[in-house]
Amino acid sequence: MGDSSRIAAPSTNSLTQSNFHVKTKVQCNSILFRLEGKVAIITGGASGIGESTTQLFWKNGAKVVIADIQDELGQAISDKLGVNVCYIHCDISNEEEVINLVDTTVAKFGHLDIMYNNAGILDRPFGSILDTTKIDLERVLRVNIVGSFLGAKHATRVMVPQRKGCILFTASACASIAGLATHSYAASKHGIVGLSKNLAAELGQYGIRVNCISPSGLVTGITSKHGATPEEIEAHLHELGNFKGKVLRVEDVAKAALYLASDDGGYVSGHNLVLDGGLSGVNPTMLKAVGLIQ
Ligand SMILES: NC(=O)c1ccc[n+]([C@@H]2O[C@H](COP(=O)([O-])OP(=O)(O)OC[C@H]3O[C@@H](n4cnc5c(N)ncnc54)[C@H](O)[C@@H]3O)[C@@H](O)[C@H]2O)c1
Repeated sequence: MGDSSRIAAPSTNSLTQSNFHVKTKVQCNSILFRLEGKVAIITGGASGIGESTTQLFWKNGAKVVIADIQDELGQAISDKLGVNVCYIHCDISNEEEVINLVDTTVAKFGHLDIMYNNAGILDRPFGSILDTTKIDLERVLRVNIVGSFLGAKHATRVMVPQRKGCILFTASACASIAGLATHSYAASKHGIVGLSKNLAAELGQYGIRVNCISPSGLVTGITSKHGATPEEIEAHLHELGNFKGKVLRVEDVAKAALYLASDDGGYVSGHNLVLDGGLSGVNPTMLKAVGLIQ
């Protein structure tokens, strides 16, 4: 039996998906391709969490459609991974573009098994409600809530006749603990958790599972837009976090998405999987007061 931790990451430049699978199966027959035959759409797939999830789903045998507005980045990932990945321009807040995304995916790959509504925006790192304009608020809600809603709606349209499917959302730890983000962003992410649970209640009868992933802060395109280097951001997040010795990375979120999208999470629905190293469950005030933590 091989040791999967010793397998070098594939250089995807010259590697087709099946080539990667054959090589990997030869090296380690304990690796399972957990999404073999599945078709997934990943919104925001051109960067950060979405890009990492695209790669992990592809490595696990899925056909993946990257939906984003960053055309060059999305197309470059698709070109690198080959025929089982394609890029479709889609502004998730535009219903016509979401309809086109879902219908083109089904026309190209035959069905849709996983809709990962991951794309999202942040208005800014922090700010008082008094400094928040209506325009800021509406922009964040239009992408994070309306866009995720539309993705879920049109995925449902094709999944109900299939009598199976998996809908995922990226929410945020700021929906589990107050004070981590702006009011607009926190409102949008609370909305996503609520939407996800409500959909799970309606769609379970059709064999469609609906779940959320809620990461705490990590380095991606969103968090890198505000001046600090990735190293500075990670050091700061590590200092603020509850769990020490590791920082949250995009690969960790992708692995959570893989669990929920695959048969491993086959009876999980209506769940908000919080990836925050325990941060939202801990109030350190008492432990600090009695000197158990610093
Ligand atoms: N990075 C964090 O600290 C963090 C923490 C919790 C949750 N999240 C959430 O994770 C999700 C992914 O973000 P990320 O952190 O990987 O950031 P990112 O900026 O690297 O990726 C977001 C992607 O969404 C795309 N996008 C933005 N608006 C879009 C639109 N209207 N239509 C289609 N695509 C659009 C962007 O082009 C980008 O490729 C977001 O929903 C974000 O709110 C991020």
